[in-house]
Amino acid sequence: MTIAPVQSSTSLGSSGWTDTRLILALEEVVEKELNRHLGVAKEWMPHEFVPWSQGRDFDGVLGGEAWNIEQSKVTPLGRVSLVVNLLTEDNLPSYHHEIATMFGREGAWGTWVHRWTAEEGRHGIAIRDFLLATRAVDPVELERARMNHMSEGFESDNAHSMLHSIAYVAFQELATRIAHRNTGKYAGDPLCEQLLAKIANDENLHMVFYRNLLKAALEIAPDQAMRAIADVVTGFRMPGHGIPGFERAAAQIALGGVYNLRIHHDDVLQPVLRKLHVMEIGGLGPEGMVAQNELGVFLDGLDGQARKFDERQAAMLARRAARRSAE
Ligand SMILES: [Fe+2]
Ligand SMILES: [Fe+2]
Repeated sequence: MTIAPVQSSTSLGSSGWTDTRLILALEEVVEKELNRHLGVAKEWMPHEFVPWSQGRDFDGVLGGEAWNIEQSKVTPLGRVSLVVNLLTEDNLPSYHHEIATMFGREGAWGTWVHRWTAEEGRHGIAIRDFLLATRAVDPVELERARMNHMSEGFESDNAHSMLHSIAYVAFQELATRIAHRNTGKYAGDPLCEQLLAKIANDENLHMVFYRNLLKAALEIAPDQAMRAIADVVTGFRMPGHGIPGFERAAAQIALGGVYNLRIHHDDVLQPVLRKLHVMEIGGLGPEGMVAQNELGVFLDGLDGQARKFDERQAAMLARRAARRSAE
């Protein structure tokens, strides 16, 4: 999907909260949410989801068999999507740097940052092991893409503001959840689907953590939080947007129904906005009202764009089906 870069507003208004004051004000909420998270997150073992008996030596040092696309049992859509998902997870060191810089490594914030990093690390490990043991993707291409992508690093669009950062991760964790879940659905491999469902469950818990923080932020600093939400929603980009060949992969992923404008609007933006009653919040100051209004206009426009996408998608799939039946 093509999404414009974030247009940010740094105006704090007359009752402006600085990032430092907000981080302190939210510390108690972070502690409560961290404890809730630790209470509900169940330990799981990535190695249990990898069919090691299917693994064998590759060519090179061990003189095994080179990778060939015939060996891959996942669907072509699953292959593209799994690689995008894995490369996104692989950039974890850069994400850790961004969030540790923003939220700090002290107290409950620090405990959360480290715990979150450890959980995300499990995702990359599990997907890579699965892909290599099952020969689902070209290991050489994968490694080169990883080197390439990580060498670029990740720079947050929202590093200028802690409220923008919280709003972004609330939507982004849900986007990642949906992307993993739908990848599993279309990968054509039940074990892969099971693994991705497990990962998607973790992403959901991450989303809940950040969404609850965003809820608290809306209560503490409603106008500024509303501005942050409006900026983040109108400028949203997936964290993997810097992956080599991302545009092409994203087009395939969109057409295949793993992640597209319709899904982004219906399954990612709307559930968070509805849960927080963002469009119904009253008592805002002039700046908050402007932001809320911008958000409403944007969502209507996005819904229209998604409708056009749905039509193009249906036409393209019908053409493909007709071509196939004529062969
Ligand atoms: Fe993850
Ligand atoms: Fe996550």
